[in-house]
Amino acid sequence: MPICIRSPASIANLGPGFDIMSLAIIEPYDDIYVEVRRGGNDDIKFVGSYSHYLPSDYRATTLYPVIEEFRRVTGLEFSVRVIVKKEIKPASGLGSSGADAAALTYALNKLLGANLDYKSLINIAASGETAAAGVPHMDNVAASLLGGLVIINPVTGDFVKVEVPSNYWLAVVLAGSKVSTGEMRRVLPSAVDMKDLKNNSAYVSMLVYSLITNNREILGKALMGDSIVEPIRAKFYPHYQVVKDTLLRIGAIGVALSGAGPSLFGVFDREPPKDRISELLNKGGLRDYILIITRPSNVGVHEIPCKELNT
Ligand code: HSE
Repeated sequence: MPICIRSPASIANLGPGFDIMSLAIIEPYDDIYVEVRRGGNDDIKFVGSYSHYLPSDYRATTLYPVIEEFRRVTGLEFSVRVIVKKEIKPASGLGSSGADAAALTYALNKLLGANLDYKSLINIAASGETAAAGVPHMDNVAASLLGGLVIINPVTGDFVKVEVPSNYWLAVVLAGSKVSTGEMRRVLPSAVDMKDLKNNSAYVSMLVYSLITNNREILGKALMGDSIVEPIRAKFYPHYQVVKDTLLRIGAIGVALSGAGPSLFGVFDREPPKDRISELLNKGGLRDYILIITRPSNVGVHEIPCKELNT
């Protein structure tokens, strides 16, 4: 029997939490149909609004390493038929590849009765990110798998899921482009100053505390307090300042790059006015962008009726 899985997009880093935290969001999401067979070849197809962004050879996508890694870890022999309905824009900073890797890993675990725990699932799904970024990073796949705000130690794989209070809204602005996540990682330093370590560690801790306790002022400072990664990456994105200024002017608690960019997101404690944001972005000279108003999702990958995929 095939199963169909819905997998939420995610916002990694949240300012100071480079590679150690990510937040699942309700929209956008990808839907994936997965069927397991005994023999035959793997058959992977992309449909949906952004399917044309994916390479035609599935071996070049993030799904191939996931399938291979699943075979290696479990020792099981199988082939898969997968249809991905791609509604999360690839390379936008919303964990597009991670969402698919998470969904496929979850589906294989279920269909093959492998009973792997979440730590193993995160590891397998993260191997898919190697195809996208050159090195595996676990933050996006962990958030898509578990939902909520996931804090993960990429050194040990230990993680914790934090339920996000229901009052938050997010405005996500997809604009500009990036060379690749891998490239946006190569521009970062391989070592950091102790001063920056202390700064970011303090703001990461405050971010989690203030998010849960609704401390607006500290949350804003924490989201915008990264002194290591975002200041470097921001220079690559000409739209960075106008988007940040606009979202802050409209009342965002804080604004930061989503993952490695190019998207930025603002956190709000009420529904942000879409028309007014568009108006100000247009006034600021931004022409080509997609504005998504969404909310944190405390639910990660989950089964849906296959008829919803409509494939
Ligand atoms: N933590 C990763 C990075 C997320 O910032 O490179 C990429 O989506």
